[in-house]
Amino acid sequence: MTGAVRGRFIVLEGVDGSGKTTQARLAARALRAAGRTVIETREPGGTVLGERLREVLLGASPGALADTAEVALFAAARAQLVAEVIRPALVRGDWVVCDRFLASSLAYQGVGRGLGIDAVAQANALAMDGCVPDLTVIVDVPAGTARARRGAADRIEAEDDAFHARVAEGYRQLAARFADRMTAVDGTGTPDEVHARVMARLGAVA
Ligand code: TYD
Repeated sequence: MTGAVRGRFIVLEGVDGSGKTTQARLAARALRAAGRTVIETREPGGTVLGERLREVLLGASPGALADTAEVALFAAARAQLVAEVIRPALVRGDWVVCDRFLASSLAYQGVGRGLGIDAVAQANALAMDGCVPDLTVIVDVPAGTARARRGAADRIEAEDDAFHARVAEGYRQLAARFADRMTAVDGTGTPDEVHARVMARLGAVA
């Protein structure tokens, strides 16, 4: 790890169809309006390597990736994003707003795939290089709302309802266990209504 971190690292999380991408965009816009320099990025992706890994991870045929390989590839994309984008931005003193990060691996691979939250956290420790988000905001919506909001399905979105229910339960476990740095907001209502709830939580790290 090199360089002292001075900026803030904010992550928006949630199940597929939760509206977290819209909320990440609105949060970044509001932080800029408040005078912050904000870098917006997403996982998996955000770097050339990460976007290539995204294609592998989301485009592979069903059954082509072992669950453990899936963890390793998400972690590889994360390692590159931390090294190339997130750490340099935080060292400059910028704010980083990231659409998904570690909590996605904990919820999807740890709980959804059943590999365990602790095992997946351990597999990610090196990749994160000490870049722990200051705040992870989980956009929480009922399963039916998420299903209705989901667009074209990629390999992971195409999983069955039981998988998505486990992922949602995983996020609830994370919010309870890491209450000092993860928080859930009600994701129902209009984007502006949800945005107001997100910004109220961000006040804690401003
Ligand atoms: P996302 O970019 O949110 O999908 P969209 O293209 O609809 O915006 O996320 C891609 C998928 O990858 C999503 O189903 C969640 C999954 N995912 C994991 O399973 N583990 C992870 O660590 C990450 C970052 C994403």
